[in-house]
Amino acid sequence: MTDNTTKTNTADDAEAAGKGAKAVPSRRSILGWGGAGLALGAAAAGGTAVALRTGSDAQPAASGGDAVPFHGAHQAGISTPVQDRLHFASFDVTTTDRAALVKLLQEWTEAARRMTAGHEVGDGAISDNGELPPDDTGEALGLKPSRLTLTFGVGPTLFEKDGKDRFGLKSRRPQALIDLPAFKGDNLDAARSGGDLCVQACADDPQVAVHAIRNLARIGMGRVAIRWSQLGFGKTSSTTPDAQTPRNMMGFKDGTRNIAGTETDRLDKHVWVSEKDGPAWMTGGSYLVARRIRMHIETWDRTSLAEQEDVFGRDKAEGAPTGKQREHDEPLLKAMKPDAHVRLAHPDSNNGVTILRRGYSFTDGTDGLGRLDAGLFFIAYQRDVRDGFVPLQKNLAHHDALNEYIQHVGSAVFAVPPGVRDKGDWWGKALFA
Ligand code: HEM
Repeated sequence: MTDNTTKTNTADDAEAAGKGAKAVPSRRSILGWGGAGLALGAAAAGGTAVALRTGSDAQPAASGGDAVPFHGAHQAGISTPVQDRLHFASFDVTTTDRAALVKLLQEWTEAARRMTAGHEVGDGAISDNGELPPDDTGEALGLKPSRLTLTFGVGPTLFEKDGKDRFGLKSRRPQALIDLPAFKGDNLDAARSGGDLCVQACADDPQVAVHAIRNLARIGMGRVAIRWSQLGFGKTSSTTPDAQTPRNMMGFKDGTRNIAGTETDRLDKHVWVSEKDGPAWMTGGSYLVARRIRMHIETWDRTSLAEQEDVFGRDKAEGAPTGKQREHDEPLLKAMKPDAHVRLAHPDSNNGVTILRRGYSFTDGTDGLGRLDAGLFFIAYQRDVRDGFVPLQKNLAHHDALNEYIQHVGSAVFAVPPGVRDKGDWWGKALFA
């Protein structure tokens, strides 16, 4: 079984990220020198970069509690509190060299360790050598760690693509990492689907999330290329039930009945891969399903309030289940329409199937026909997609009243390994062992 006694993401991890690291200014420590404006201004003036770099990094950027510890039994960004913003990136591996891929994952891990603690990548954005491009792209200078989490996963095509065992990993592919079946109503765009690797960057500041993905992509140049990426805002789920439940683009509270980050029993039962599930390299990990779900916003906006509430089986103002008063009242499924989303998605209608949702809203401009290209970037974590997303989505795809107003246009599935334990560990180490 998963080691429940191991603390998830220990508090001194962020500190570890600073220790032994080069003396570069942290985002926070730059502020400590008199604010971002001053720091950037001074750096731009030239010659002061060294002064900024020395004496600035004795304390980890995370000391104020703004950083989510990177090390732990599980990766951060799954059961840890949901941040406001998302930048999700899917990568194709372009190198055929296993050693080059391993080296990239080691470099990525070090960069992730530093960025989540609020530090710059490598020698930072303002280096001594003006002749070279800096290691860090710089747009997060002066910004707080913003609870940045970077969650790493591997897709089915890393193990086998076009019948080819690309990196000698084919025999290590988890049985649970299936290719998702086609679901009724899917209209998937291949250019927005799949991927060999993924990184989910979540932060309270969008610039911090974008900076993280940009720097990982930059480090990966020549070895990986971004296949697709998705920006998200307005988290549509909560792993902290005490907090106010966020609303999705349809105006409804979303995430009311999610698994909370504190519910260790439910997390062990439904989210974390256990030792007996296998393979061993996935123990403490999870499986991620991402779906880009477009909403027909304009149609929805012309739909009566009563119909909207019937579609979900909850009222719009309070979020209470049909026939109940308060948001967190136990849903009475029989009181809802047979095709109501909540009735169909509820564990009681699916032999107990339960997933952890962690999605975000998106609006990517308009589609050229005057309609918003907006919707839900759905992210779900589960112990096994065959007992999680797949049966649930089969049920929803056939019966959900919501289908009139949505369409699934992108899809991906990834195995998310357990957490990085310490400085000697790296993303995927056990997989490549
Ligand atoms: C654009 C698409 C979707 C929208 C707008 C949406 C919206 C909502 C809303 C408003 C709720 C009620 C509040 C809550 O408990 O969170 C809900 C519940 C839920 N949804 Fe969705 N959802 C969408 C897609 C999906 C998909 C694709 C799945 C899974 C395959 C799913 C699974 C669930 C589950 C499991 C619940 C909780 C049911 C319960 O235990 O009461 N949803 N959704």
